[in-house]
Amino acid sequence: MYYYLLYFGIARNPFTEEDFKSLLEQARERNESLDITGKLLHCEGTFIQLLEGKKENVEEVYQSITKDNRLIANKTITVGATTERYYKDWSMAFKDVAMADINEIEHCSHHDVAAYIKSASAIKLLKLLAVA
Ligand SMILES: Cc1cc2nc3c(=O)[nH]c(=O)nc-3n(C[C@H](O)[C@H](O)[C@H](O)COP(=O)(O)O)c2cc1C
Repeated sequence: MYYYLLYFGIARNPFTEEDFKSLLEQARERNESLDITGKLLHCEGTFIQLLEGKKENVEEVYQSITKDNRLIANKTITVGATTERYYKDWSMAFKDVAMADINEIEHCSHHDVAAYIKSASAIKLLKLLAVA
């Protein structure tokens, strides 16, 4: 069984292309060494991330993320157990989208991504991660 954790976090400052690049390099290297996989979605200053792997490894990395100064806040959306990884080929898949893209996927018209995440169910957000 694998453990998974889905959370969202708010960026302290806007991320540049260079910021994304160094974040992903750092994350992918550590995730590979800890056998963690998952996906990171960024939308207009808000991140949604799924981390999956051994429970202690996922929690160790999440602890680091909660202390990361690049985020001003983060909140766990859900945790669970799964027999198969969702992202077994990715030490950390990444996608940067706009609110308009999410609105198109969801056939809705939200203005604020953080408000959307707070009101959406965990299963809806897992599906969004998969299709975005
Ligand atoms: C949005 C976001 C996502 C991150 N995702 C990961 C990740 O998947 N794996 C990882 O090792 N670090 C990730 N990090 C970086 C960690 O917060 C941390 O800087 C890094 O793991 C080093 O941890 P340490 O400072 O405890 O040594 C992420 C940071 C941010 C801001």
